[in-house]
Amino acid sequence: MAKIVYGFGSSHGPLLATPPERWDLRAADDRKNPEHPFRGRIYTFPELVEARRGEKDFERESSLEVRQKNFERNHRAMDRLAEKTAEVDPDIIVVVGDDQHEWFHNDIQPSFTVYCGEQVINAAIDPEILKTKSAGIALAMSASHPPQDQAYPVPAGLATAIIEQAVADEFDVAVSMEQRANARGIIGVGHAVGFVYRRIVQDRPVPVVPILLNTYFRPNRPTAKRCYQFGQSIGRAIAGWNGANAGKRVAVCASGGISHFVVDEDFDTRMLAAIRNRDTKTIFAEPENMFLSGTSETKNWITVAGILSATDLQMNLIDYVPSCRSEAGTGCGMAFATWE
Ligand SMILES: [Fe+2]
Repeated sequence: MAKIVYGFGSSHGPLLATPPERWDLRAADDRKNPEHPFRGRIYTFPELVEARRGEKDFERESSLEVRQKNFERNHRAMDRLAEKTAEVDPDIIVVVGDDQHEWFHNDIQPSFTVYCGEQVINAAIDPEILKTKSAGIALAMSASHPPQDQAYPVPAGLATAIIEQAVADEFDVAVSMEQRANARGIIGVGHAVGFVYRRIVQDRPVPVVPILLNTYFRPNRPTAKRCYQFGQSIGRAIAGWNGANAGKRVAVCASGGISHFVVDEDFDTRMLAAIRNRDTKTIFAEPENMFLSGTSETKNWITVAGILSATDLQMNLIDYVPSCRSEAGTGCGMAFATWE
């Protein structure tokens, strides 16, 4: 049987790869965005500034001085995660992330997908895709994409065991056996896996099982409870995996989150504590309209909490850094954690 020996979680937002003096590029996107979800309501940017007056001094929080400090803290935390992950040296990493119109578009958007091809490629930046991104996003793309295409093996036996366990547990899971391609060639694995493999795993060819959730797009986003239960199913599959590679040491990774693009420290603190304390009551009581936009990626962490629920690994928060880029408190609540 395989054993889950380690877990880790890392935010993957664009600010992590954007020099602080250029965070304004992303703040400019925020100002143009007419729909900022925040605590169950939708705000324009000026409405958000008004609504949050008195909550915190976001002018100060988004000043260059504070940005610089936050940027450095984020990188120290990611360095620590990278070191720890190298030290544990797992045989396989199961990465739980979300697809943001990378492999799946409006033609099909599965709630849960397990990828089980022979390998997965993190592709170099596609100049055609680069052209479609805002300046702030384009600048950060090198954080998820290697200079040249990088291939990672996928342990098909474990991926298949996860799929079969999901079916046995009555999850109608989507399966992808072949990496998507377009006229220009293969479409690289999405940012959720790409970022973790580039920044934390540092491009080492550690075998990976990519698991992709639709956290973002209406109308078939799985609920937090369903994500947790799906995670429990994945955990059972790993623990019961008896294939040729049984005995493997498996790590599990949550990619993304926590609150963005409106930073909500209350939500982040509540969710991180609930995940650490295995407090499913709090997780399941959170209204679904709190998990919108980038904040929906919290469900990647909740899925990992489900995977790890039957282990005795304990979550250790390396750092939580509310990283603001505007006077409306937009940015990203960055979290970095291990389960050991
Ligand atoms: Fe993301």
